[in-house]
Amino acid sequence: MKIVVFASGRGSNFKAIVENIESGALTNVEVSLVLSDKPEANVLTYAAEKGIPHVCVDSKTFATKDDYEKALLEEVHKVPCNLLVLAGYMRILGEDFMTNVGCPVVNIHPSLLPSFPGLHAQQQALDYGVKVSGCTVHFVDLELDHGPIIAQVPVPVMDDDDEDSLSARILVQEHQLYTVCLQLIADKKVSIVDRCVKIKK
Ligand code: GAR
Repeated sequence: MKIVVFASGRGSNFKAIVENIESGALTNVEVSLVLSDKPEANVLTYAAEKGIPHVCVDSKTFATKDDYEKALLEEVHKVPCNLLVLAGYMRILGEDFMTNVGCPVVNIHPSLLPSFPGLHAQQQALDYGVKVSGCTVHFVDLELDHGPIIAQVPVPVMDDDDEDSLSARILVQEHQLYTVCLQLIADKKVSIVDRCVKIKK
């Protein structure tokens, strides 16, 4: 399975995917391209070090979101892509992009959706006072952090957690969960019935 990865920043989820491919923990998955909307994103530096094809489509250089997303589509369509993987990509993909991308799109989010979609999910969880948060991998649809859920991992919230400590504990789980989900998709074990994801044993 060929994947294209979109990431906006640090890129630790992308790094975990690459390390798992290298170690053989994730099989039948190959990265065709890493794309970032931010020229300064660490994920681009890491991809360069690893010799993985990478490109920046700087959102700031486009007059409209439509123009920007047309440029994204051009980049995705230049390479083989069976799955688009959002790994800390901090923008919402529009309807034209989603209609024309030509493959499923998955995302990872640092909360147990449908709780706490959007930015600062970990701080939202702390402010609400939940005792358990976690992370979710889901298919992307046209609504923010809303599509069919593939898998989730719970993470307990401690009394003395702040945004950084909770984010760090959730991130450890994210790095494992994304690989588990990508392997299930690569192995063709994932199907969607209505909005429910079924996993073949
Ligand atoms: C991760 O925690 C990811 O779940 C989150 O951004 C972080 C990216 O970290 N994504 C979202 O909040 C998307 N709604 P990374 O760049 O180190 O992978």
